[in-house]
Amino acid sequence: MTVSRRDFITTALAGSVAVGLSTDAGATQESSEKKNKEKHAAKLPIIICAANGYNYLDQAYAFLSGGGDTLDAALKVVQGPENDPNDESVGLGGHPNEEGVVELDACCMHGPTRTAGSVGGVRNIKNVSLLSNTVRLHTGHIMLVGEGAERFAVAQGFQRENLLTDKSRKEWLLWKETHSDWWGPGIDSPDWRKRFADPTRAGIDEDEWELRIRRMEQVAAEIGIPSGLRMEVIRCVIFPPTGTIHCSALNEKAEISGCTTTSGLAWKIPGRVGDSPIIGAGCYTDQDVGSAGATGNGEENIKVAGAHTIVENMRHGMSPLEAGMDALKRIVRNHNGDKERLQFVDMVYYILGKDGAYAGVSLWEGYETGKPHQIAVHDGNRRLEKTVNLFAGASQSWPPVRRLS
Ligand code: GLY
Repeated sequence: MTVSRRDFITTALAGSVAVGLSTDAGATQESSEKKNKEKHAAKLPIIICAANGYNYLDQAYAFLSGGGDTLDAALKVVQGPENDPNDESVGLGGHPNEEGVVELDACCMHGPTRTAGSVGGVRNIKNVSLLSNTVRLHTGHIMLVGEGAERFAVAQGFQRENLLTDKSRKEWLLWKETHSDWWGPGIDSPDWRKRFADPTRAGIDEDEWELRIRRMEQVAAEIGIPSGLRMEVIRCVIFPPTGTIHCSALNEKAEISGCTTTSGLAWKIPGRVGDSPIIGAGCYTDQDVGSAGATGNGEENIKVAGAHTIVENMRHGMSPLEAGMDALKRIVRNHNGDKERLQFVDMVYYILGKDGAYAGVSLWEGYETGKPHQIAVHDGNRRLEKTVNLFAGASQSWPPVRRLS
């Protein structure tokens, strides 16, 4: 991806513009829903996942079609990004915490046996999705965290390895030198505006962006980040991504499972655990109903127990689309519908009913204008589909950028 400074500033400012517009996609939701229902006539088996799982769907679908277990199929998908050093949201090469250490979270639920496993804040182990499954299969516990989870992994035969790639390290260095800025009130706080140099307004203007980005380009050059990558890396530093992959799989016997894995929020405070390993937030599967998972702001999703809320909504008769939209609206409710704050929240839900009906829903269209969130689907035909978004426009990432002094 090549991003020019001008593109970047335009995109960054577009977020503020989106906030000013009252263009809820909710108004068009009904017609989208009708289309959705028609388009999503069930075909089994089926696998759905976040877009970064697209390249791994074929082999998982072949495995599932050949009688493979639903959770094993989902794990095959998410291991792809975990093993890929270029996917900086998951596993090897994931963005590190504020101390430059990669910490991973994952969980899984196996519908047929109604069992679950989870790991949080794990260092040095690449395939934490498999580790969560090992917790499920080989302990009487559900969740292991930190050093205990790492030692358990090694005892179970997982290899310790350095998960920080040179690219992620340089990106972290750029963040460290120009931004180190997690401490202070979050968007939940009544004092949230204190994060701005000028608390009377939640934004910075074009000239300030220019100055800030020019300074970051200089530092990026000193660190040795290749010029073609600099704007992409600067975007990552200013808008720390949450990445993540969720996958749910359903077979012809209507057995269903799900899993979610992530390196979590880039540059997080060490020990921060998001929604991904929280059963009921980042992933939830109920053999009687369906499966759901999330990518996006973990803190917001934990507060609405997103995946569990969605599955319960489906249990009470909602379609996958309705169930997901309801969970998004709970996030909106938590901020009293204040789009000035909600611009900093991004959330995507991936939802699969036990009958094979599915939906991908998102709070905003995407992280960037013109690059919509997508759900990857394989039901014999592998494809990417745009999610149905509640609000028009792109989200911005928290924390906001401080003014240059
Ligand atoms: N959704 C991933 C995270 O917040 O850690």
